[in-house]
Amino acid sequence: MIGILGSGTVGSGVVEVLKSNFADISKRIGREISIKAVLVRDITKKRKNLEDINLTDNPDDILNDGDISIIVELMGGLHPSLEYMLRAMEAGKHVITANKDVVAQFGEQLFSKAEEHDVDFMFEASVGGGIPIITPLKECLAANKISLIMGIVNGTTNYMLTKMTEDGCDYDEVLKEAQAKGYAEANPAADVEGLDAARKAAILGSIAFNTRIKLDDVSVEGITSIKAADIAYAKELGYVVKLLAIARDYGDKGVNVRVHPVFLPSSHPLSNVKDVFNAIFIRGNAIGDAMFYGRGAGALPTASAVVADIIAVARNIVSGNKAVIGCTCYNKRPLCALADTESSYYIRLWVDDEPGVLGSIATAFGKSDVSLKSVIQTRMVDDHAEIVAVTHVVQHRKVETAAELLRNLPVVVKICNIIRVEE
Ligand code: NAP
Ligand code: HSE
Repeated sequence: MIGILGSGTVGSGVVEVLKSNFADISKRIGREISIKAVLVRDITKKRKNLEDINLTDNPDDILNDGDISIIVELMGGLHPSLEYMLRAMEAGKHVITANKDVVAQFGEQLFSKAEEHDVDFMFEASVGGGIPIITPLKECLAANKISLIMGIVNGTTNYMLTKMTEDGCDYDEVLKEAQAKGYAEANPAADVEGLDAARKAAILGSIAFNTRIKLDDVSVEGITSIKAADIAYAKELGYVVKLLAIARDYGDKGVNVRVHPVFLPSSHPLSNVKDVFNAIFIRGNAIGDAMFYGRGAGALPTASAVVADIIAVARNIVSGNKAVIGCTCYNKRPLCALADTESSYYIRLWVDDEPGVLGSIATAFGKSDVSLKSVIQTRMVDDHAEIVAVTHVVQHRKVETAAELLRNLPVVVKICNIIRVEE
C-alpha cells in the first residue's frame, strides 16, 4: 500500500495515472497496489478524482500506518518534507519524491538514512519532470564515464527565451506572458534567477561524476540580464540563447557544475528545444552524445516519472529483491573553480563614438591575454556606439580581468552583457 504526501499538481496527476493505468501497472508489478491515504493541508478543499480516496491532514495517519510500505512525497519545499521522509525511512518505508529542493540540499542525509534502514529512495521526477534521466544515468549509462551534461531543465525560462527569440519581445513582456499562462509563478525568482535549474544541476552533477555536488557548489546566473539586443546579436551570429545547467569534467582540475545563459550554435540539438520543453544532452566515453527530450513539468508528465519509481519499488517488494541503486557518490572529485573554466565569450558594450576607441578596447583585451575572434559595430544607442566582441576560448578569470580593465576605460560607457558561447 502507498501513502501520498501532497495532492496538488503532481499528487493529483499520480492518482490519475495510478487509476487510469491500474490494470497494466498491476500486471507489471505482479500485484495490485492501492492508495491507503493522501496527506493534504486542507481536507475541505474539493478535489477532482480524489472523491474515493482517504484524505487526511495528519501526517501520523500515514507515517505511523504499518500497512503502508511506500511513501510518495509530493508536497514540495524543504520542511517538513525532509522530516517526513526521514521518519518514513526510520519506520522501514520506501520513499519516492519529486522534490528537487530537498534532494539537492539533503540528498546525502536521505541516502544515508535509506541505507541505514535498508529501504529504497527514488527521485526520478526531481529533474526533467517526465523525462527519464536519473535511472538512465544510474543504470543504462552506467558503463560510461560522463564528461559533460548540458541541460535545459527549466521550462519557464526556456519558454521566455523562446518567445524573446521568435517574437523579438523584451524580458519584462515575456515574463508577464509566462505568468499569465501559469508557467511562471507570481514570484518567479527561483526560475528566472536560475535556482530551480541549479538544484537540478546539483542532482545531475552528483550522479554524473559520482561526487556529491552541493547546491552551494553550483555557480548560478539566471536570465534577468538578457535583453532583446542580446537575442538579436545571437541570431545574427548564428546562435540561440538558452539557459543551461552544465556539469563538465575538467580532468585533473576537477569538475564544475553551473547554470548560466549561453550562446549555443543554432545547429546544436538543444537549440531546437523550444517553449516549456526540457532536454538533457549527455556525453559519455562509450555512448558518445545522447539527448533526452520531453516535458519537464505538468501533472501527468511528472506523474509518469513518479509512478515509474512506484512500480520499481513495488516490484522489489513483490520479488523480495534488495534496494534499488542507492547513493552513487563513491568518489570525491575536486571542484574546478568557475574562474578556471574555459569558454568563448560574447561581450556587448557601449562606448563613446570617437577615433581610437576600438584601439583602446583591443588593448584592454590584449593586456588580459584575451584573444578576439570578431568585433562588430552595427548601431548607435542614444549617443553611444554599441560594440559586440566575441573571444576565442579563454579562461573565465581572464575575461573578468578584461571586463575590469574595460570598465575603467573613460571611453567605455558600460558593459551591457557578457555571455558564454558554447561551441
Ligand atoms: P502543489 O501543487 O503546491 O501541491 C502541494 C501539495 O502538498 C498540496 O496538496 C498541499 O496541500 C500539500 N502540502 C503542502 N505542504 C503541506 C504540509 N505542510 N502538510 C500537508 N500537506 C501539504 O505542488 P506540486 O506542483 O504538485 O509540486 C509537488 C512537488 O513536485 C514539488 O517538490 C515540486 O518541486 C515537484 N515537481 C513539480 C512539478 C510540476 O510540474 N508541478 C514538476 C516536477 C517536480 P493543499 O492541497 O491542501 O494545499
Ligand atoms: N518551475 C519548473 C519549470 C517546473 O519552470 O521548469 C518544476 O520543476
